[in-house]
Amino acid sequence: MTTFVDLFSGAGGLSLGLKNAGWKPVLSLDHWDDAIATYRHNFNDHPCINADVASVSEADFALYLSHCDWVVGGPPCQGFSTVGRRKRDDPRNRLVFEFARTVDILRPENFLIENVIGLKDMKFVGAVESYFAERGYKVSTMVLRSADYGVPQLRHRIFFVGSLAGASFDAPQASHGPGTYVTVEDAIGDLPVLGPGEAADRYDRPAKAGYQKRMRRGCSTLSGHEASKHPAHLVQAISHIPDGGNRRDIPASLQPKSGFHNSYSRLHSRSPAVAVTQNMGKPSGTRCIHPFQHRGLTAREGARLQGFPDAFEFLGGMTSQRLQVANAVSPILAEAIGRHLAKSSSDIQIAAK
Ligand SMILES: C[S@@+](CC[C@H](N)C(=O)[O-])C[C@H]1O[C@@H](n2cnc3c(N)ncnc32)[C@H](O)[C@@H]1O
Repeated sequence: MTTFVDLFSGAGGLSLGLKNAGWKPVLSLDHWDDAIATYRHNFNDHPCINADVASVSEADFALYLSHCDWVVGGPPCQGFSTVGRRKRDDPRNRLVFEFARTVDILRPENFLIENVIGLKDMKFVGAVESYFAERGYKVSTMVLRSADYGVPQLRHRIFFVGSLAGASFDAPQASHGPGTYVTVEDAIGDLPVLGPGEAADRYDRPAKAGYQKRMRRGCSTLSGHEASKHPAHLVQAISHIPDGGNRRDIPASLQPKSGFHNSYSRLHSRSPAVAVTQNMGKPSGTRCIHPFQHRGLTAREGARLQGFPDAFEFLGGMTSQRLQVANAVSPILAEAIGRHLAKSSSDIQIAAK
């Protein structure tokens, strides 16, 4: 079985997806109490350390394991814009250096780094590749759109796959495309209707779409389905916005005074969602108003759009839960990449024999 260490494990989206792909988590680490609580609540088969990664020494790692096949995690790489500028004191690079230090200690056969990416923001790619090449790893880079792998979300992610043996990896084959994308309605259309400030902990209608049935599997109660309160004037303003519409649909007399061009926009029920953010509960967040209900999204709706099953419970307050959901790698995308990388690794090993 492919074993892995998840650095910066958060609530566990990446761990869950890799585990569903047949990988075995052997150690995880984060320094955020709520995310650690969520992680431990949902995974109880391996140690999860609550510590700043910088404080974990080689001797500390040795207490937990002597070997792992992969080190995975999402240290932000955006500070790596040019090869000559990997400044030790650039705070944005601190976590990549810590990831690399862990790779140097554990010397796994492979590593996997994931990052959120805007498609125009690729300046750091070559620098990350050459930084890890100096440590003996050949790096393959892939940019994946979550919706292409069955996630009801258009978010892009960049993945760096390192190989000590010098192997190259390609991207997994897309399983979905325009016409077969999982939509917002497929993802959240069976959840109880809520007004602002309301909550529900029971399903009140049967699941229809296959995706809804898959998300409900093994779960009889709902958690995290609690909508934020909004002022009455805001509810009145957003009630004018149709499915998929935006702030231009709000009459001039009710126009909110602040916000960005994509604030006060409804999700389109028949498309995948745009990237879910920590502000998903607020109508002023990025296109995060429910397609038909006059409110922002609940943490559970965000979790559905990320591909977390309902049986996966998030702990902490609602603001914290929404942040844990938004920070996560989609478990569905992680599973697709996990299956593909495990197969590619075994093909490479067979070819080398
Ligand atoms: C993008 S989130 C990870 C999401 C996670 N991979 C998932 O799929 O759910 C980044 C995580 O890094 C953690 N983190 C940031 N700095 C850290 C540090 N110095 N030591 C340990 N964890 C850290 C944060 O608390 C956060 O949970």
